[in-house]
Amino acid sequence: MASRVVRNKKTMSKTLTFSCVILCLFWVLSTAELQRFQHGAKEDGSLSLLVVGDWGRRGSYNQSQVALKMGIIGEKLDIDFVISTGDNFYDNGLTGVDDSAFDDSFTKIYTAPSLQKQWYNVLGNHDYRGDVEAQMSPVLKKLDSRWLCLRSFILDTEIAEFFFVDTTPFVDSYFTNPKDHVYDWRGILPRKAYLSNLLKDVDSALKKSTAKWKFVVAHHTIKSAGFHGITREIVDQLLPILEANNVDLYVNGHDHLLQHISSLHSPIQFLTSGGASKAWRGDVNWWDPKEMKFFYDGQGFMSMQITPTQLDIAFYDVFGQVLHKWGTSKKLYSAF
Ligand SMILES: *[C@@H]1O[C@H](CO)[C@@H](O)[C@H](O)[C@H]1NC(C)=O
Repeated sequence: MASRVVRNKKTMSKTLTFSCVILCLFWVLSTAELQRFQHGAKEDGSLSLLVVGDWGRRGSYNQSQVALKMGIIGEKLDIDFVISTGDNFYDNGLTGVDDSAFDDSFTKIYTAPSLQKQWYNVLGNHDYRGDVEAQMSPVLKKLDSRWLCLRSFILDTEIAEFFFVDTTPFVDSYFTNPKDHVYDWRGILPRKAYLSNLLKDVDSALKKSTAKWKFVVAHHTIKSAGFHGITREIVDQLLPILEANNVDLYVNGHDHLLQHISSLHSPIQFLTSGGASKAWRGDVNWWDPKEMKFFYDGQGFMSMQITPTQLDIAFYDVFGQVLHKWGTSKKLYSAF
């Protein structure tokens, strides 16, 4: 009898310790800072890269043609890395780390020498319809050393900081009306805590940043005249944080097109690079011409060239022709 009590006490204290460890772990995880990666600029202090989105279709819908031109422009600009705005694998992400789509839609498609650089990828809503953890698995990096995909993270390039934000879990309809789709919400639930922690982390990272240029990369649109249009949840929850923290660019995919919208209310430029495969949806909504700088319903990609004082972007079509260019400059030393 007595020994049973003692044993119970022992079990209880073990359980208590265990709960404490779990609670502490949860606290540490939920308040952890966004993971940071470093990618140095070139010796002359410049940086160039390509941005591509909504692509993995085993080469079809002009994916291979876009990839070919990316290779040529990538060579010309001597790019340092590539950014993907998500929807990396259609239709339903990857089934696992052994899904042949990784090889057929990525490794075997982006074969040009200039594209053998680091790829920084976010997840799109289609990626969440598969085994989402597979895309973030280090196993993929072993299969193709270019691959890096996380939900949200920071890329520090000395002259600019890139903030990659996981926007799919913000969209209500994926939870309330998923239709026939099954989303992989492992690591997201409880959703409210996930979203509020993410917004807190992005806000504090932006506030702490001393970078000259601040770029935010995500899958979902904030401003778009395409089929999907604006993403209400992102406009309401993320945009105010970007506007309060001197973000220069918001770069997204989701709408399968190329687009540049300027904000009349802040210096933020809204750039959509989602034209890496299936496009030509033919769905164009009205947008204030004072904000709409460029709209192209077809396939292509975007480049960025950055120095400490100058930022230049360009959009290219499937023939590698420049469709639109835009640039801006900053003084080296500005009095805040
Ligand atoms: C491929 O690109 C060409 C040139 O823009 C376009 O005419 C054609 O419709 C595209 N094909 C597909 C399947 O989107």
